[in-house]
Amino acid sequence: MPHPTEPAQPGKVRVNHLARIKKRGGRIAALTAYDFLTAQLLDRTGIDLILVGDSLANVVLGHPTTLPVTLEEMLHHAKAVARGVTRALTVADMPFLSYQAGSDDAVRNAGRFLKEGGVEAVKVEGAGPILGVVERLVEVGIPVMGHLGYTPQSVHRFGSNVVQAKTATRAGELLDDAIALEGAGAFAVVLECVPAEVARLISERLTVPTIGIGAGPFCDGQILVLHDMLGLTPRSPRFVKRYAELAGLISEAATAYVSEVRGGTFPAAEHSYGMPDDELRALEEESEPRP
Ligand code: KIV
Repeated sequence: MPHPTEPAQPGKVRVNHLARIKKRGGRIAALTAYDFLTAQLLDRTGIDLILVGDSLANVVLGHPTTLPVTLEEMLHHAKAVARGVTRALTVADMPFLSYQAGSDDAVRNAGRFLKEGGVEAVKVEGAGPILGVVERLVEVGIPVMGHLGYTPQSVHRFGSNVVQAKTATRAGELLDDAIALEGAGAFAVVLECVPAEVARLISERLTVPTIGIGAGPFCDGQILVLHDMLGLTPRSPRFVKRYAELAGLISEAATAYVSEVRGGTFPAAEHSYGMPDDELRALEEESEPRP
């Protein structure tokens, strides 16, 4: 096993490498990104997968749910992320209603993520009614990552019930859905907000990797929303570990800037450009008020 700071997959990560990492007992590290510079920074850490999540709606665009984000908005950010990544596998979320209405629609929209967005795969939420869509996308050469458990595009169906599959019956249904998604050709399945034991069972039963978010330690990989783990969001769910508190740092920096601009201490000489002395003299002469 490579050291945890070493990537389990040397070189460019491709969809088929994820199952290989699982088979070898490695763990997949994934985060979301929405812009060029951040994607570039993440890629240089050796991270395995970067998701242009439809959490874009919440953490970048300020919507209360993921429902309003459009295909064009997702594409705009997918392009920026793809430009910053050379190594990690790039995946984009298909936004709400860009795949649920039928396979033809889904193929056209998912195809745009690969063709124009420059990412290598798409993610869709749910199983049952969209299994045919997953099959069709995979058939035409578009790799698909599944997403089960708490699926934010169904926020109005879940109401306030965030943690899913808490009963044996529901857990069994979730396992069936995960097996069906693998059968339809998904190369990985995100499990969001399910009990750790349920995620363990599903991870053991699937050949393709599970990527957990709020699904405990037994998944084959983990993903978090970048703004949560960097401490940019004011509150984060219980399953998030905040690896930094960037909101505080940004406030401090901006407050110092405002105060230095108002106090006249920024910009100082070292932040300013000069001009040659003779040119300055000539300018002064030229600009002297004529009698
Ligand atoms: O949109 C998103 O960020 C996601 C992850 C939380 C898995 O779907």
